[in-house]
Amino acid sequence: MYLAENVGIKIKNNGDELKMSLVNAKEMLTKAKEGHYAVGQFNINNLEWTKAILLTAQELNSPVILGVSEGAGKYMCGYKTIVGMVEGMIEGLGITVPVALHLDHGSYDGAMACIEAGFSSIMFDGSHYPIEENIAKTKELIAICEEKGLSLEAEVGAIGGEEDGVVGTGECADPEECKMIADLGVTMLAAGIGNIHGKYPENWQGLSFDTLDAIQKLTGKMPLVLHGGTGIPADMIKKAIDLGVSKINVNTECQLAFSAAVRKYIEEGKDLQGKGFDPRKVLAPGVEAIKDTVKDKMTLFGSVGKA
Ligand code: 13P
Repeated sequence: MYLAENVGIKIKNNGDELKMSLVNAKEMLTKAKEGHYAVGQFNINNLEWTKAILLTAQELNSPVILGVSEGAGKYMCGYKTIVGMVEGMIEGLGITVPVALHLDHGSYDGAMACIEAGFSSIMFDGSHYPIEENIAKTKELIAICEEKGLSLEAEVGAIGGEEDGVVGTGECADPEECKMIADLGVTMLAAGIGNIHGKYPENWQGLSFDTLDAIQKLTGKMPLVLHGGTGIPADMIKKAIDLGVSKINVNTECQLAFSAAVRKYIEEGKDLQGKGFDPRKVLAPGVEAIKDTVKDKMTLFGSVGKA
């Protein structure tokens, strides 16, 4: 059982009953870095997504991070709705593995709103600011997160591809800048190493392991975060973990799996048979497809059995 000093853990000892609530990501990522595996961050979009990811983490006894972009936050009617849904689900589904609820690519205002709403982890993406401004804003948020017991992810070097309408080209972060941000006391650091969000183009050059190696040498024990986990070949994932990556973000791959499975159900005319139009039936194949994807990723990342 994972009993850390993480904020938000609620332990209700009614006989044998132990209830878990959200935890920050610090302890799970420290363990991952030491144990040479990575914890998956899977982005959520709705109830089905969240349920599929939580049930899979529980089945595999794996820690998990639920990622919420600001766009997905709006879609799900705001951060408070999400906190309520996730906490309710942890209790309702009897989830006991460590779960962090994490803002993905947050703005300064978005970070403040999530802290207020009860998220247990925040990413402040100041990568588009000049490094001095990134540092100043990151410092402010570190102080607040420390006081409230949240974990904080910072980013250096824009991650390419499209995220909520923001398009970047896969840069490589400057290892010295990574060290500067790591030394501020962030919990985890996302650094661009040629990775991009969404599907990788045919002419993609692959991850820059030289950059990752240089960053890891300068940042030591800091858990490093690999964004754009969709479509990175398994051997590159393993090498990235060997070089200090302890958190890997996956979003698009679950979306592709979900939509392909729901499309198949509709194309086979199953919604036209009996009560096949019931939304719980229409979405069920999509939920199973997300579970399979999450299972594959957790197995590849090595987090199975690490809760
Ligand atoms: P993908 O959509 O490429 O899997 O990236 C997810 C991500 O990095 C979220 O921050």
